[in-house]
Amino acid sequence: MTLEEIISSRKLLICVGSGGVGKTTTSAAIALHAALSGRRTLVLTIDPARRLATALGLSQLDNEERRVPPEHLQKAGLPADAELYAAMLDTGRSLDALLSRVAKDEALQKRISENNIYKQLSHAIAGSQEYVAMERLYDIMEEGRYELVVLDTPPTKNALDFLTAPNRLVSFLDETVVQWFLKQAESNGLGGFIIQKSGNLVFKLLGVLTGGDFIKDLIDFFQAFKYLYIGFRDRADKVNKLLREEDTVFFLITSPEANVLDEAAFFHDKLLEFGMPLKALVVNRAYQIIKDCPLCSEDVETLMRQDTIRQISSQSGADEKLMKSTLEKLLNLRRVAKQFNENTRKNIDSLKNRLHKAEFMACIPLFSEEVYDLEGLARMNSYLFTSSAGECKATV
Ligand SMILES: Nc1ncnc2c1ncn2[C@@H]1O[C@H](COP(=O)(O)OP(=O)(O)OP(=O)(O)O)[C@@H](O)[C@H]1O
Ligand SMILES: [Mg+2]
Repeated sequence: MTLEEIISSRKLLICVGSGGVGKTTTSAAIALHAALSGRRTLVLTIDPARRLATALGLSQLDNEERRVPPEHLQKAGLPADAELYAAMLDTGRSLDALLSRVAKDEALQKRISENNIYKQLSHAIAGSQEYVAMERLYDIMEEGRYELVVLDTPPTKNALDFLTAPNRLVSFLDETVVQWFLKQAESNGLGGFIIQKSGNLVFKLLGVLTGGDFIKDLIDFFQAFKYLYIGFRDRADKVNKLLREEDTVFFLITSPEANVLDEAAFFHDKLLEFGMPLKALVVNRAYQIIKDCPLCSEDVETLMRQDTIRQISSQSGADEKLMKSTLEKLLNLRRVAKQFNENTRKNIDSLKNRLHKAEFMACIPLFSEEVYDLEGLARMNSYLFTSSAGECKATV
């Protein structure tokens, strides 16, 4: 199976991995590839990735889905009609966005959003901001305007927060204490309940500790919230389902250093535990291309021979000593790169055994410069989408 085959039937691709391994760059490269293959594609990032915006020729990257300008593609020698879009999932928004969708009645919406308990909760519910970001993803998928959506996530820990946000919201809603309040609100109104039981020590204490407004807010919040409970739960369930659908696929991005690979293994196990479909492993900066260094196409060992140095020096007038020391440095660079490649090779081999669930592995070399434009993304793709990509061979 090739990477192309894995992607071609999918609608949502989620790139996860440790910090700085190249998730954003790889997501953009894959999205570019899909767009160039004629699929209307959106790359969605959670990071405010300024560099990504620049690479795509966009003046800014925010909540709005923007198309990569045709002239920007053309300038990079790519077909101008490729439909590539980019946007950032806004994590700054609170549960309000969700509230406005679930509460159809404006008065109810206003009543809840102005409630002090709600204001506190919307920030305090673990993962509520991440959850709202995932909600937006769900909406985009539902609207079906793109043939492929590539989601770039923050580093491991935060990404796990995102992926588990729907579950956490559901379990918060299912927690006994919330259920208890909802039940009270349903039968004869929570207000009545609290007043009836005003002898109850807990409420007395609460009233003393927090002042009357707190109790009033609490009553009001749960009375209004009972109408929303089903809506919140329902949407959280749907987002959860989306992450596990047939059309969804996870790519784990990593670099080959041992400590980063440990994190990749941790992530691999977590995805399995959550039942999320991990299909491919991308080892970025997996090796150094030794042939790219100056003079490396020549046989440096032959050049190092004293008689060769003398001959070149007399022909070109170059300083013999300087030539020798330069060649020595070059040889050393080559040795270091070889050593790096040998080490990473070993790490990658052991990774294959540990991460058995990823059916496909691709390697991208460490480029001599950062990936900051469409050409750079296309260069990445020349490694990801070749028939030999799965072999992960380092050019030593
Ligand atoms: N194969 C590569 N060769 C050289 N530079 C690379 C390569 N891959 C990525 N980079 C560069 O490494 C930097 C980090 O990449 P990127 O932003 O994609 O990582 P990330 O995993 O998204 O980071 P973060 O976890 O901070 O979001 C960028 O400057 C990018 O251009
Ligand atoms: Mg990133």
